[in-house]
Amino acid sequence: MKRISWEAYLGLQVGERIPYLNKDGAENEPFHVLYAQQFDRKMLDELCALADRIRKAHKAPEGAALLRSLLPNKTALNIFAQPSTRTFMSFHLAEQKLGMQTSDIRDLSTSSQAKGETLQNSIRTFSSYVDLIVMRHPDQGAAELAAYEMNMADRRLPVLNGGSGQDQHPTQALLDIYTLQRSLDEIDGKKIAMVGDLMRGRTVRSLSYLMKNYRDVEIYYVAPERLRIGDDIKAFLKKQHIRYTESDNIEAIVPIVDAIYMTRIQWEWDKAAGAKAGDAKYDPRFVFRKEYLQRMKRKSCLMHPLPKINEIDPELDYLEDPRVVYWRQERNGMWIRAALIARIFGVDGQIPA
Ligand code: NCD
Repeated sequence: MKRISWEAYLGLQVGERIPYLNKDGAENEPFHVLYAQQFDRKMLDELCALADRIRKAHKAPEGAALLRSLLPNKTALNIFAQPSTRTFMSFHLAEQKLGMQTSDIRDLSTSSQAKGETLQNSIRTFSSYVDLIVMRHPDQGAAELAAYEMNMADRRLPVLNGGSGQDQHPTQALLDIYTLQRSLDEIDGKKIAMVGDLMRGRTVRSLSYLMKNYRDVEIYYVAPERLRIGDDIKAFLKKQHIRYTESDNIEAIVPIVDAIYMTRIQWEWDKAAGAKAGDAKYDPRFVFRKEYLQRMKRKSCLMHPLPKINEIDPELDYLEDPRVVYWRQERNGMWIRAALIARIFGVDGQIPA
């Protein structure tokens, strides 16, 4: 791994950073996972197929035992310095299904950071004891700094970004792709709507980046005026020749699209900026009502990264309709994360086809 100063590294565009994040000498093989842009079509297809193999193997006791025999001498550290339910649970269980030992930190104020230790030094210390770091942090650059620190350290171990500020959530995007593929059979040529807080939702950002890997996809962004998708994403889509439209009413797009990806309004950022929680009222134009489901295509899906608040009619939670996939989507997260970890540690070849 080529060395570079932190300042010089920060001066690089995302595309130029990727060689520092990949496995040595491999062009499209992530080692650290920080950005959705690191994944190409081949890798996405292979990870989805591997996730299928893992879930199939896990159905039988012998298969589950085989999975647990893959990484018994490895330990994963899950640092979640920001609230998390699904990402934490699914990483934790994915690691255990591969036989890894797990260690969790859910509050950095209980570590020596509280004594003034730098994040770099804390990460370096953690890395003395473990073989994989998964990190969620409110600051955009924290997982990046951890990966950089690992590249400079003698024990170079992978860092997976479990959500960084308002920027990216690459492993969520992997499970979203896996879910789209399982629900629609293919993603090429599909129309995908993303609804809600598109400005601060990191999941829609990462998923938008992954769309570069699919042919003739069309994105429909539906958001309140003040929460529209970032200009950087729009510039990226234009450069990649991906068609997108922006609007402010979900109703019109319901019958047209193949997938609707709902998101919640992230009021906590308003609260941090001084607004009261009561300011975050739900606008009916961004709520998925029960009757919309009947207007969706017969083969389509309603997704949500979760947590949801009141942007989906709760009656849909209990409906047995194959289009309502958000609960299955979260379980998909465990299998695709197991696939990613198996791939990074090079044990995927031992998982039966
Ligand atoms: C999302 C996140 O944390 O970015 N949740 C998740 O990981 N599934 C979405 C959110 O918080 O709204």
